[in-house]
Amino acid sequence: MQQSPLLKVHNVGINFGGLKAVSDFNMEIHQGELIGLIGPNGAGKTTCFNLLTGVYIPTEGDILLEGIRLNGLAPYQVTQRGISRTFQNIRLFNELSVLDNVKVAYHSLAKHSILSSIFRLPTHFSGEKEMEEKSIEFLKIFQLDTFLYEKAKNLPYGMQRRLEIARALAAGPKLLLLDEPAAGMNPQETQELMELIAFIREKFNLTILLIEHDMKLVMGICERIYVLDHGQLIAKGSPNEIRNHPKVIEAYLGEEVVESHVEG
Ligand SMILES: Nc1ncnc2c1ncn2[C@@H]1O[C@H](COP(=O)(O)OP(=O)(O)OP(=O)(O)O)[C@@H](O)[C@H]1O
Ligand SMILES: [Mg+2]
Repeated sequence: MQQSPLLKVHNVGINFGGLKAVSDFNMEIHQGELIGLIGPNGAGKTTCFNLLTGVYIPTEGDILLEGIRLNGLAPYQVTQRGISRTFQNIRLFNELSVLDNVKVAYHSLAKHSILSSIFRLPTHFSGEKEMEEKSIEFLKIFQLDTFLYEKAKNLPYGMQRRLEIARALAAGPKLLLLDEPAAGMNPQETQELMELIAFIREKFNLTILLIEHDMKLVMGICERIYVLDHGQLIAKGSPNEIRNHPKVIEAYLGEEVVESHVEG
C-alpha cells in the first residue's frame, strides 16, 4: 500500500498584479525521495519554494505537510513544522563564524526531527558546550570543521554554499528545499556537491526537493522530476520521460535561443 505523501501541493497558485507567477501547481513528494524541480529562467521555481515556506501566501490551493495545512503560516513556523531551505543567492550570517551559523540554526530545530534522533539531540541543549560539540560533529560531514571560527563571509564561494546547506539541515527538517545549490560553481565543485546531496539524503534519511537550472545535472541524481514553464507544470516523470518530453524540449530550446541571443 502506498503511504500518504510527506508533502502534497494541491492546485496552488499565486498572482503578482496581473502576472500568474505560478498556477494550478500540483506535487506529491514521499518520504525519502529526491525530487528535481526544473524549468527555464523565470519559470516560477523559486516562487514555488517561497509558497512552500510561507514567504508568499498562495492565492489559491493547499499545501499540506504530513496532511496538515501550511497555508498562512509564517516562515519560522514552517521551519518548525519541518521544511528548511537554502536560497538561490546565498543567505548566511556573514559576520558570524561557521560554527555560530550552525548553532543559530539549532535553535529552530524542528521537534521530533530526523536529525535530533540521529544525533540524539534533546529539544533543548543542556549547555552551550553540548551544542558546540554536536555542531562540530555535524560540520565535519560538510568538511567545514577546519574553518569553525572563520567568518562565513570569508569562506570561498563553494564552502559558503555547503555551509548554507549545513545550516538548513541543522534545523532538522523532514523536507529540505535546495534552490540552485550549484549555481556559480565550477564542474568539479558541482559534481562534489551533487555527491554530498546524495550522501546527506542517505545519511539522514532525508526528503529533498532540488531546484536546478541545468537539466542534465538533476537527471543524474533525482528519481522524479517536475518541470515548470511560465508558471505551469508542463511535465513530471522519471529522468527518461522528461528527457524525451516534447514540451520540455520545446521549453529548453526556446531558452537556448534566448541565451545565445543575449550572449551574442
Ligand atoms: N515578489 C514578486 N513580485 C512580482 N513578480 C514576481 C515576484 N516574485 C517572482 N515574480 C515573478 O514571477 C516569475 C517567476 O519567478 P521565479 O523567481 O520564481 O522564477 P525561477 O524559475 O526561479 O527563475 P530563475 O531560474 O531565474 O531563478 C517571474 O516572472 C518573476 O519576475
Ligand atoms: Mg529561481
